[in-house]
Amino acid sequence: METRRVCLITGASRGIGLATAQALAAAGWELSLAARGHQPLVDAATEVGAKIATVCDVADEEQVARAVQATVKKFGRLDAVVCAAGTGSFRPTVEQSLDDWNAQISANLTGTFLCCREALKVMVPQGSGHLVTILSVASKHPFANAAAYVASKWGAYGLTKSLAEEVRRQGVRVTAVLPGSVDTPFWDALGGGPPREEMLRPEQVAEAVRYALEAPTGASVDEVHLMPPKGIL
Ligand SMILES: NC(=O)c1ccc[n+]([C@@H]2O[C@H](COP(=O)([O-])OP(=O)(O)OC[C@H]3O[C@@H](n4cnc5c(N)ncnc54)[C@H](OP(=O)(O)O)[C@@H]3O)[C@@H](O)[C@H]2O)c1
Repeated sequence: METRRVCLITGASRGIGLATAQALAAAGWELSLAARGHQPLVDAATEVGAKIATVCDVADEEQVARAVQATVKKFGRLDAVVCAAGTGSFRPTVEQSLDDWNAQISANLTGTFLCCREALKVMVPQGSGHLVTILSVASKHPFANAAAYVASKWGAYGLTKSLAEEVRRQGVRVTAVLPGSVDTPFWDALGGGPPREEMLRPEQVAEAVRYALEAPTGASVDEVHLMPPKGIL
C-alpha cells in the first residue's frame, strides 16, 4: 500500500490555505492544519478530513514547533509545509503604527521563517521534503500605501529563495508562489480593494500549489507567478 504524503498547512482555516487543504485532501494527502482561531480551524479540519489541527500563531516559536511536532508524532513524517498564514493592511506610511507594522512582519516574514526552520529540522534528516511559501505579487512589485505588507513579502521572497539554494542539495524542494489579488476574506477587513470578480479564485492558487507539490521528483517548481487575467488590479 502506498504511503499517503503528509502536509502541514498554516493559515488553513480560510482563503488560500483552506482551498489548498481542500485540493490536497482531494488528491489523497494526509493533512495537518494550523491557524490561530480555534473554531474555524476545527471546522476546516472536519471539512477536509485533516487528522491534526493545531491552534498556532506562526509568529510564536513554541507554537510553531508544537504544530510541526504534532504532525510528525501523528504521521511519523513530514513531506510538505505550505505557509499560507498571513495578513495585510494598507495605509500611508505616516499613518502606519509600529504595532501594525510588527503584526505584518511577524506573520508574513518571521512566521514563514519559523515554519520553514521547524520543518527543515525534520526534512533535512529525512532527506526529503517540500516547502511552499505563499508570497505575493507584492514580493516584487511596489505598491503605494502598502509599505509594511510589501516589505514583509519582499523579505519572505528573499527568505524563500535563499532557503531554496541552501537545501536543494539536501533533498528539499522550495517553491515560491506569487499570486496577484485573490478573492478571499483577506479583503473583507480592508473595506474596499479591487473588484472581487476580477480577482483569482483561491482554488486556482491551490491548484498551483498542488501542481508544485506533485511535480515529479526530477523537477523542481521553483517559482509560480499567478495573476488575474487583467494583471495587477
Ligand atoms: N488574498 C489576496 O489577494 C492575496 C494575494 C497574494 C498573496 N496573498 C497571501 O496569501 C496568504 C493567505 O491569504 P488569504 O487571502 O488566504 O487570507 P485570509 O483569507 O485572511 O486567510 C488568512 C489565514 O491565515 C491565518 N492567519 C493569519 N495570521 C496568522 C498568524 N499570525 N498565525 C497563524 N495563522 C494566521 C488566518 O486564520 P486566523 O486569523 O484564525 O489565524 C487564516 O486562516 C497571505 O500570506 C497573503 O498575504 C493573498
